[in-house]
Amino acid sequence: MDKLLIRGGRPLNGEVLVSGAKNAALPELCAALLTAEPVTLLNVPQLQDVSTMLKLIRNMGVSAERSQDGTVRIDAGGLNTPEAPYELVKTMRASVLALGPLLARFGEATVSLPGGCAIGSRPVDQHIKGLAAMGAEIVVEHGYMIAKLPAGWTRLRGARITTDMVTVTGTENFLMAAALAEGETVLENAAQEPEISDLAEMLIAMGARIEGHGTSRIRIQGVDQLHGCTHRVVADRIEAGTFLCAVAATGGDVVLRHGRADHLDAVIEKLREAGATVQAVDGGIRVHSAGGATLKAQGFRTTEYPGFPTDMQAQFMALNCIAQGTATVTETIFENRFMHVNELVRLGARIQVDGKVAVIEGLASTSARLSGATVMATDLRASASLVIAGLVADGETVVDRIYHLDRGYDCMEAKLRGLGADIERMKA
Ligand code: EPZ
Repeated sequence: MDKLLIRGGRPLNGEVLVSGAKNAALPELCAALLTAEPVTLLNVPQLQDVSTMLKLIRNMGVSAERSQDGTVRIDAGGLNTPEAPYELVKTMRASVLALGPLLARFGEATVSLPGGCAIGSRPVDQHIKGLAAMGAEIVVEHGYMIAKLPAGWTRLRGARITTDMVTVTGTENFLMAAALAEGETVLENAAQEPEISDLAEMLIAMGARIEGHGTSRIRIQGVDQLHGCTHRVVADRIEAGTFLCAVAATGGDVVLRHGRADHLDAVIEKLREAGATVQAVDGGIRVHSAGGATLKAQGFRTTEYPGFPTDMQAQFMALNCIAQGTATVTETIFENRFMHVNELVRLGARIQVDGKVAVIEGLASTSARLSGATVMATDLRASASLVIAGLVADGETVVDRIYHLDRGYDCMEAKLRGLGADIERMKA
C-alpha cells in the first residue's frame, strides 16, 4: 500500500488548480445512462472512484473513453446489462446512483446493496422509498436490490417525495428517475448541494424539465426521452476547502484556480473568524494566513448544505488542533466520522470525543506543537486531515493506506509539492 512521506513546517505559496468535483462526476456518469445518444463530460477528475464508476458502466455494456485532459465520452446505446454487481458496489457506495437511471430507461435494475463503510452504515432505505413512490417494485434479496416496473407499466410515474432526512445521492437518484417519468415529480426536502444543481443543469442540457434545483423543493416534469449533451463538471468545493484549510494551517498565500467561493460560504466564514484572509478573486479563491498558531480555533456543527459540510469536518479539525483556544465540533450527519481523531492524537493533538461531539484544545495556547509520526488513513476525508496535520508537524509524518485519499483527491501530493510542501509518495 502506498504511503505519503511529509516533512512539516513549510508554508504553501503560489497557485493550484481545483479539479472537477468527485460528487458531481459520479452522478453525472450515471446520468449518461438515461440516453442512447453520446454524452461528453469535461473536467472529470482523475480519481479512483471515477475509475470504479467507469468500470461499473462498462460492465453494463456502455462504452466510456477517458482522455488525459479529463474528457470522458460515454455511449450508453449498447447498454445490455442493467446490473451493478457487489464486487464493484462494495468499493464505492455511489454505485447506488445507477438505480434511478436504469429503472427510468429500462424499467428494471439489479443493484447490489452498498453495505456500510468506515464512516457509517450508509443505508439506502430512502432511495427505495422514493423510487417505490414512483411505482417501482423493489425487493431486496441476497444482498441485491431487484427493481422493476409493475406489470403493464412502460415507465415510472411522477410522485411527490418527502424523505425522512435530506439525502444527497437520494435526491440525485430521484432527479434522474423523474426526468423520464410520466407526469410531475416534486421533491419536498431535496438536498441543495452545488453538485445537485450541476447534475440538474446537465439533465436540462439533455432535454429534462427541472426547476428549483439548489433549493429544498425541486419540480421535474417527465419527458419521453433525453438526448446527448456536453457538460463540464463543476469545480470540487471539498478539494478547494481542503486546500484552504491546508494553507491556513501552514501559513502562506495561495490562489485556488477555478475554486468557487460561493460554494464554500460556511467554511470561508469560519476561516475568516479564525483570522485567515479568504477572498473571491477573478476565476478562483485567494487565501492568506500567517500560520495555524496565529489563528483562533473555531467551533462548528456539520449540517446539510448550505451549512458547514460534513466532508470538511476532519480537515478543519486538523487546523483547530494547532490554533489558539478551545473549540467544540459536532458531527450531525454520520455516526462514525471521528476516526481521524485517534490518529491526530498520535501526532500530539489534544482532542476529547464524547459521542457526536469533539472538543479540541488548540496547541498554540500552550506553545506546544504537533510532532511527526506514522499515522493510518481510515477514510477519504480523514486522510486529508492527516496530510494537513503532517504539513505542520515537526519532523517526518508518514500517512499509511492512502488508497483512501486516492479515491477522492486528484494528485494531491503533486499539487501540494507545487505549492512548496515537502511531500512524496512512497510506492508499496
Ligand atoms: C453524499 O453521500 C456524498 N457522497 C458524501 O461524500 C457526503 O458526505 C454526504 O452526501 C453528505 O453530504 C456522494 O455524493 C457520492 P446522504 P450520501 O444520503 O448521499 C442517511 C465524500 O467524502 N441516509 O446525504 O451517501 C445517511 O446514513 C463522501 O466525498 C439514510 O439513513 O449521503 C446519513 O446519515 C462521504 N438512508 C444521512 O442520511 C438513506 O437512504 C445523509 O446521507 C440515505 C441516507
